[in-house]
Amino acid sequence: MSISGTPAWQALSAHAETLRQRHISELFAEDPARFKRFSLETGGLLFDYSKQRVTAETLELLAALADAAEVREWTRRMFAGEAINTSESRAALHIALRHREESLLMHASGEDVMPKVRATQAQMRRFCDAVRDAGHRGYAGDPIRAIVNIGIGGSDLGPRMATQALEAYSHPALSIHYVSNLDAADLAPRLEKLDPRTTLFIVTSKTFTTLETISNARTARDWLLAAAGDAADLAMARQFVAVTAAPAEALKFGIAPDHLFEFWDWVGGRFSLWSAVGLPLALAIGMNAFDAMLDGAHAMDKHFRDAPTLQNMPLLMALLGIWNINFLGAWNLSISPYSQSLRSFPDYLQQLDMESNGKSLRPDGSPVGARTAPVLWGGAGSNTQHAYFQMLHQGGVLIPSDFIAFAVSDFPLPGHHEKLLANCFAQSEALAFGSEHEDPLRACPGNQPSSTLLLPRLDPYRLGQLIAAYEHKICAQAAIWGINPFDQWGVELGKKLAARLLPALENPDATPACDASTTGLLGWYHRHRNAT
Ligand code: F6P
Repeated sequence: MSISGTPAWQALSAHAETLRQRHISELFAEDPARFKRFSLETGGLLFDYSKQRVTAETLELLAALADAAEVREWTRRMFAGEAINTSESRAALHIALRHREESLLMHASGEDVMPKVRATQAQMRRFCDAVRDAGHRGYAGDPIRAIVNIGIGGSDLGPRMATQALEAYSHPALSIHYVSNLDAADLAPRLEKLDPRTTLFIVTSKTFTTLETISNARTARDWLLAAAGDAADLAMARQFVAVTAAPAEALKFGIAPDHLFEFWDWVGGRFSLWSAVGLPLALAIGMNAFDAMLDGAHAMDKHFRDAPTLQNMPLLMALLGIWNINFLGAWNLSISPYSQSLRSFPDYLQQLDMESNGKSLRPDGSPVGARTAPVLWGGAGSNTQHAYFQMLHQGGVLIPSDFIAFAVSDFPLPGHHEKLLANCFAQSEALAFGSEHEDPLRACPGNQPSSTLLLPRLDPYRLGQLIAAYEHKICAQAAIWGINPFDQWGVELGKKLAARLLPALENPDATPACDASTTGLLGWYHRHRNAT
């Protein structure tokens, strides 16, 4: 049965009717202990959800929903390595990538995955040490100074976000670049500035067939080999590495076997930061710091696996999200890290959430019967206050927010951090409580729900905890909606159509059978393609 047909869902619907009329300010006035009641601390992270539009009864009903959906059983199956990615008949064992204890994690096929995980981590350590200590050199004998990751989606967003987030921990002599877009404006200006003798390319692609990545990788290879001349073979052997689950394809591309870093089909692309996909990050911060990030994620894994529902941070995040989306009708989610270093966190979460849960059918083809993933967007505070926050305050649309902030700045300059936090706390206060004014144009209605996550500092361990919390949140929501968060069939159609249309862009005489709009766009392009 679809979750929306269960008594637990019906009870929440009825409860929402009464709570929809209530204002957050009334909920606070009624309960002086509201912060204490509706906040949770685990592993040094504070999760304050007192400004959500919930009561103790809401939480009990949400916990009953989690029970009805058998989320804990789904979690057990994930940790046991069962094939919870049903459409692809695979386990989803990103948790194994940060498993830190001796006990074994078993793959569904009965294989212990940990020896492979540890072997790749050891290979990453050797390579990172060699590059960072300048033992590994380019074709002309120079130390590596620039690292360019070529990848897209899950092979880009995670390491890109984390490299920015941990800039304070980065090797001072290495610059890390991320190229993802097919638009030559991504790769070309970088190549202009880079020195082929000191640049290392990492081609990151689970499938090693993704059009954007392979096109950029070929262009980068041409650039490097042209510069290397007679030393082309050496340049390829030393300055091109690959991270992939399709090693045969990478070898065909010309990657040297000892520079092939593997991950496996049981790691979803958007959950792969913890694998060798994190190589550019590990090169930037060093393998010890990368390990600390894995430790933080593992601590969150254990919390998610073991904590009871209403003391379980990711599960609470999931349930509050479902409450907002399905019962209060809030289909957006604004993510506001008050941290310039975390400015790409919303982009990263956008893929994690919308590609995982942007689905309306259950694995058996039956409809979920309810909305699923939120429309997720955001940006770094306080910049966002001067961009879209006006709409949150007075736009008349219910939009929940997640605020994320740190007790200590990773780039301390006197006086900055207090002002930043004052703005962060002020925004959630303003959104929740609003303000009256004799001039209605200046009044803010408030009643916009938000949660605030506070962390001691943005270090590798804390970043690991934070990302893992959101991963589990999104997976727990999928389990409740009854969808598979690990496939993404929807993105395939556009890829197929682009391949069909390419000949018609290359050759004006080609006449693909397509709709009138696409035909019109192709015609316009051919009339303008040579315009200066
Ligand atoms: O956008 C579709 C997608 O398959 C993502 O799920 C994935 O992260 C991305 O493309 C890149 O895929 P690959 O790592 O195989 O190049």
